[in-house]
This record gives sequence, C-alpha cells and structure tokens, in this order.
Amino acid sequence: MPTDELISVAQAMVAKGRGILAADESSPTIKKRFDSINVESTEENRRSYRGLLFDTPGFEKHVSGVIMFDETLRQKAADGTPFPDLLTSKGVVPGIKVDKGAKPLAGFPDEKITEGLDGLRDRLKEYYDLGARFTKWRAVITIGHTIPTGFCIDANAHALARFAALSQEAGLVPIVEPEVLMDGSHTIERCEKVTEITLNHVFFQLMAHRVLLEGMVLKPNMVISGKDCDVQAGVHDVAEATVRCFRRSVPASVPGIVFLSGGQSAKLATQNLNAMNAMGDHPWELSFSYGRALQEEALRAWAGKSSNIAKAQKAFYHRAECVGAARYGKYTDAMEAA
Ligand code: 13P
Repeated sequence: MPTDELISVAQAMVAKGRGILAADESSPTIKKRFDSINVESTEENRRSYRGLLFDTPGFEKHVSGVIMFDETLRQKAADGTPFPDLLTSKGVVPGIKVDKGAKPLAGFPDEKITEGLDGLRDRLKEYYDLGARFTKWRAVITIGHTIPTGFCIDANAHALARFAALSQEAGLVPIVEPEVLMDGSHTIERCEKVTEITLNHVFFQLMAHRVLLEGMVLKPNMVISGKDCDVQAGVHDVAEATVRCFRRSVPASVPGIVFLSGGQSAKLATQNLNAMNAMGDHPWELSFSYGRALQEEALRAWAGKSSNIAKAQKAFYHRAECVGAARYGKYTDAMEAA
C-alpha cells in the first residue's frame, strides 16, 4: 500500500482555507436539480454545467478537491482537456463517487444499505488510471420512531470499511460518508446520539478492516435538529453539539472531517461550519464537502443559458469564498452582501 501518497493526498484534501466540491450527483439526482431550473438533463448540458464550475477563475483558492460521477470523470472541457486533467492542473484533487446508491435493506422497513462492492477492485484501478486520487461512498442512516436499528448501522459500517480498504489498496484516499439524515421531527439530542453511535461503529469496522486512518477523510452530517422538529437548534448549539459528538467518536489520527450540507441552505451551512472553526483548534481539520450548499446559487444563476456562465461562476466563486473563510472561523454577514 503506497502509504505516503495516501497521507499526502488526504492532507491536501483538507488543506487550510479550502474544502471539497461535491459535484457527484448521480443521473437521477442531477435530473432533479436540472428540473428545478427547467433544463433538460442531457449529457451535453451536464458537461457544460460541470465545466463551468471547474473553469471558474480562482475557485481553486477555496476548493481542494472535486467529487465527480463516473460520467463526469470521462468528460472533457470545451477545449478538449479531460476534466481530471483540468482539475489537476489547477491543484485541485479529482475524486470519484464509487457507490451504486442506497437501496432498501431487506427485512428492515424504511432502512437502507448502500450497494456497489461487487467488482469494485477493478473499477478502482480504472478510476486511478483516469486520474482520480480519492473516492467516496455514502451510507444513509434514517432516524424514526424505532430506527435506526443496530443491524442497519452495522451493515452500513461494514460496507463502508470494505470500500475504504479497497480504495487504499488501489492508492485512492477514501471519503467515508455515513450520513444521518436530517429528515424527520427528531430533536438535536437524538441526532447527536445516533451520530455518535454510528461513528463508533464505523471506526470499529475501519480499524477491524485495517484501514489507515491517516489516509482517509470522514464526511459526516452535522449534529442538527430534524427538519420537522418544532424547536430548531441555533448555530451556537449546533457547533457545540457537533464538536462534542466528534470528539467522542473520531480518532485524532483522522486528518479531516468534511461535512455534507444535507439540505441546509448555503448560508446556514456556512454559518455552522464557521461557528465550529471559531471555537478554536480541534484535533482534525473541520472542513466542507458541500453539494447543494456550494452549487444552488450557481445553478439558479446559470439556468441552462451559456450567456449566464459568467454570472453563475461569480455566484459559485462567492459561495466558495464564504465557505473558505468559514474554514478559519472568519466568515461574516458582511461577506454575504459583498
Ligand atoms: P450535499 O452537501 O448536498 O448534502 O451533498 C453532499 C454529498 O456528496 C452527498 O453525498
């Protein structure tokens, strides 16, 4: 296993002031995003949209890596440069989502298990050859009256660990993503407990599978109130609960924690990350790997028109700059207006 390369790539992914752009929407998900702006999800439209993000002047100041979908990793910019080469030339690490999605877990109503392990070793080799240097696998944990079950947490933790071990074997840094969903009316306290238990199981399995913790990155949810909970915890409480939860369950040898935005607005996802970093030093870098929160303003500004590309790039750069400032705890409301 090329240990030094794994460690240096993982550290580059969580470099100070920068974070990760999750642009790895699967075909059904990107269709949903395009439907919201009345744009048809054709291969060319998907290529143009991703191309405008990757070509945004200066975005690499705030973005250390990009997670792509299989199709995108094989696509090219307008001048014919393959996307992984374009990103690498800007000092941005190209990555790839390798799971095949969360499917219903047989026998466990309303719970999911992520598929995609069969044949993964061969796919990883090809992704490395195409220029990817990191991978991502998302597991989904749902909170409900009687769920999550311990069985569902264990099954997903096991799959995450197998994915992580295979990725490192192939020289790719795994982003391990156990997402406790914000859907539901649960309190922030319940989210904290479920997130803590989930992370404990995930790290038990990662160690059992002999995964090098220094050569991986964790991508979790923040600890927040359920979307439909009557009492919504504020930014300060979210930051305190999230940091407390991770101190209890994430080894200090993990170089960085890159949060997903999970349906939080762009502004709230920025404020929450900022509050955590404003608390002072932590054992790991606290960073971002946002999909919706980094893209929603750019997507709306673009609206599928090439005449809007500059406007969309400006919106994307602005959000990346705000979240980049949140990496230092230096984001302010005034930056929103700028
Ligand atoms: P969101 O930030 O939109 O939750 O997406 C991140 C991601 O990659 C989910 O797998």
